[in-house]
Amino acid sequence: MQKNTTQKILITGANGQLGSEIADALAIRFGTNNIITTDISINSNPDKKFKFEKLDVMDFDTLVQLVKKYYITQIYHLAAILSAKGESNTQIAWKINMDGLLNVLEVARIFNLNKVFWPSSIAIFGPTSPKEHTPQHTITEPETNYGISKHAGELWCKYYFEKYGVDVRSLRYPGIIGYKSMPGGGTTDYAVEVFHKAINNESFVCFLEKETCLPMMFMPDAIKATLQLMEEKKENISIRTSYNIQGMSFSPEEIIAEIKKYHPEFLVTYQPDFRQKIAEAWPSKIEDKIAKKDWNWKPDFNLKKMVKEMIIQLEVQKKDWIKEGVL
Ligand code: SER
Repeated sequence: MQKNTTQKILITGANGQLGSEIADALAIRFGTNNIITTDISINSNPDKKFKFEKLDVMDFDTLVQLVKKYYITQIYHLAAILSAKGESNTQIAWKINMDGLLNVLEVARIFNLNKVFWPSSIAIFGPTSPKEHTPQHTITEPETNYGISKHAGELWCKYYFEKYGVDVRSLRYPGIIGYKSMPGGGTTDYAVEVFHKAINNESFVCFLEKETCLPMMFMPDAIKATLQLMEEKKENISIRTSYNIQGMSFSPEEIIAEIKKYHPEFLVTYQPDFRQKIAEAWPSKIEDKIAKKDWNWKPDFNLKKMVKEMIIQLEVQKKDWIKEGVL
């Protein structure tokens, strides 16, 4: 693939579950030197191949300095406090999720950035939204701090696009499952943890009820959707809040049944906690025909294919870690 070296891309929250994988995918297209990773936490910076700067997204001045220092043309703004964690510190979660986005949008406006990516979430829906095949345009009355901030954020993105022409694009991600890094603080996190328990021959206590079905997506599909959206011609982007995208939907008992095909002895118990109420208010499957029409969205992975790939990759990782003495 021919590299496009005309872009300089800054990623916030780059040490998170999505950040490290998006950085790799962008590096293939734009070159490693054109990717500037940032995060509030220096210590958890696992990937030394990218330029790294410490950044608190609530700190507007430092964000401005970094955009100037590296001649940034695009921002992937991934720093956020997810749904479950957001319930324990309302003020901080709101500030990080909301002020962080407004800082990025403002910088994009002032410096006339080429494009911005910002993830929204299925958390913008609530108990009054249709549960099955939830449409793009429907009732959105989120009940979590995180969901409220994503809902407001979507409207801010649309506002900045319409009023100032900031080309900010967004996806309503479902729960994302990957093998390279762990999620943190989300309601869908169980679907990653469950693999690590099975691979390490440990039992698993699930914090959701066994039949709670949620929309989910395998990481390669999430990356594919993000890049496809960002590479689409501007005139084809008809949604300026955030696109619904559907990958797969499953409940804990369905994913566990699939994992048990590889680990029949895997022991699971259910102890639903406060996250159950959050999950119950979210859709089980969302409808994504506008994403299909506007930029040809189509996921590659269903539950069966994703579980197989997760198990293969985690087994390889485990062997490597044993070899390196990490385990
Ligand atoms: N995965 C997120 C969460 O559980 C949803 O966007 O908070």
